[in-house]
Amino acid sequence: MYKLIAFDAYGTLFDVYSMGQLAEEFFPGHGQAFALMWRDRQIEYTRLVTMSDPNPHGSKYYLPFWELTIRSLRYVCKRMDLNLSADKERRLMDQYAKLTGFEDSLSVLKTIKQKGISTAILSNGSREMLATVVESNGLKPYLDQVVTVEEVRLFKTAPQAYALLQEAFPVKKEEILFVSSNAWDALAAKWFGFDVFWVNRLGHPFEEIGEVPNYEGNSLSKVLEVI
Ligand code: LAC
Repeated sequence: MYKLIAFDAYGTLFDVYSMGQLAEEFFPGHGQAFALMWRDRQIEYTRLVTMSDPNPHGSKYYLPFWELTIRSLRYVCKRMDLNLSADKERRLMDQYAKLTGFEDSLSVLKTIKQKGISTAILSNGSREMLATVVESNGLKPYLDQVVTVEEVRLFKTAPQAYALLQEAFPVKKEEILFVSSNAWDALAAKWFGFDVFWVNRLGHPFEEIGEVPNYEGNSLSKVLEVI
């Protein structure tokens, strides 16, 4: 039924919260809170940039996701009163560049490809950071394309960002299954018109607005049951 399975990157294929362990080493007792706030502020910045100038030709406030990730890191350290030396910043960002994939990321992509279905990433990430993380996790052979919002200089959840998938692949909207662990991303993709699989690893409630996802499962592997 589906001709393309498109995955969100950060949080879905790659574990952003694993940053908490290194942060715990650097800032004992604060690792988890730090990782959560860092992620929230990073996404907050993408929304600020996009909403403050939702120009179809790109936001004039656009900064690559890599840069927003650094800026949000600096913000969170100031806000939590944590001393971020240049060395700690470099080590945190080095780890971010090569984030660990979830244990089933590779096998799920491989199985989908074996079924003859196309695979892609659609991410807010900048091109270079996505290339690095895809490569370091060995996913490259199993992805037909890595699509980044860098082309439109508007972040998800702008419709122009989701529209990139159909510019990259000659498929109909209803032939795309979009997979994300971020409920906001799953919701926006559903609003855009894709069928959606929400990977809910932590048993969280879905958002209280919008339509519920077509599918929900507690791991990426569960995607294989619906295709
Ligand atoms: C992404 C972030 C939003 O990869 O998770 O697009």
